[in-house]
Amino acid sequence: MNPPPHKIQVPEGSGLRAAITGTGSYLPERVMTNADFAKIVETTDEWIMTRTGIRERHLARVDETPSDMGIVAARRALEKAGISAEAVEMIIVATLSPDYAFPNTGCLVQAGIGAKNAFCFDLEAACSGFVYGLEMARRCVEAGGIRTALVLGAEKMSSIVDYTDRQTCVLFGDGAGAAIVQGVRDGRGVLGTVLGSDGTLADLLIQKAGGSRMPATEETVRQKMHMIRMSGREVFKHAVLNMSQAAKKALECSGCAMEEIACVVPHQANLRIIEAIAARLGVGLDRFYLNVERTGNMSSASIPVALDEAIACGRVKPGDKVLTVAFGSGFTWGATVIQF
Ligand code: ACO
Repeated sequence: MNPPPHKIQVPEGSGLRAAITGTGSYLPERVMTNADFAKIVETTDEWIMTRTGIRERHLARVDETPSDMGIVAARRALEKAGISAEAVEMIIVATLSPDYAFPNTGCLVQAGIGAKNAFCFDLEAACSGFVYGLEMARRCVEAGGIRTALVLGAEKMSSIVDYTDRQTCVLFGDGAGAAIVQGVRDGRGVLGTVLGSDGTLADLLIQKAGGSRMPATEETVRQKMHMIRMSGREVFKHAVLNMSQAAKKALECSGCAMEEIACVVPHQANLRIIEAIAARLGVGLDRFYLNVERTGNMSSASIPVALDEAIACGRVKPGDKVLTVAFGSGFTWGATVIQF
């Protein structure tokens, strides 16, 4: 019997699996601390730390864009994978803060790294974007249509954050993370993925203006309707529920027990959300790779940056099984189990 469409199991027997063969990341140089925020909105380091676990975040320069950050992360991932940019056949950039509405950020990354044999597009699934992008790449690679894909999460959240709204401005940071995805036959690769969405809750986390429903006007800009608006408590509740359920389903469909997972790399939105997920999965926080304290929430860039750091510092080693899990606007969510 076919599984429901949101439950995807890698076909047994095909032999070809989509593996992450190289990762790279980039964080902008400038760091904004909680003390810096206390100078511009009514807040304190103590409030931000206890509610979110975030101490500082990196912010891009005014002239620095998601494609600029993505290009650096992509070059680092190519180097780790030991391949040239010309080997890349598909570029997927997950972003909700693209350089332009069009052309897509993937094309800009392509030009920057010289991946002239690739076709390129952006994917918008908010904070779940990297997990969605990885799954799209997996399907293409395992179907045999693509040998090498580049999947990026690249965000300049500071371009859509209202720095007078203390509830949201302290949460977000900028950055980019990249993964090279290639078909292998050595047991590594994506073991199982679960994706889901609930569009009935779209209004709870939204950038209202700037699209075709509400094109930018003097009035929308004056009312800051092109900035992030969020119902924090509702988002928190749905994030915990859907991330913990998705993580459990991804374990189930990949045939893995939680004990086999060497490291969980969650979307780094908020330490309290991650703590609640750990409790629901029945594991300690020590099983999670965390960088939220240093980066804040970088939306689609959070997971690939954290994954790259976890590999670089030896938290994820060859042979390890890793669980990633994400949640974001839409609402969208996803989880995947990957063997390195
Ligand atoms: N500093 C000081 N006080 C603040 C701040 C701040 N930065 N922000 C809000 N407050 C105040 C509020 O005004 C409110 O004051 P009041 O009681 O006088 O009205 C009080 O703190 C409590 O506000 P709540 O919004 O109820 O605080 P809560 O405990 O829910 O924490 C938070 C807010 C941190 C935003 C929480 O709801 C949250 O983490 N939600 C998830 C949001 C998230 O992670 N979004 C990211 C996108 S989705 C994703 O990536 C998963």
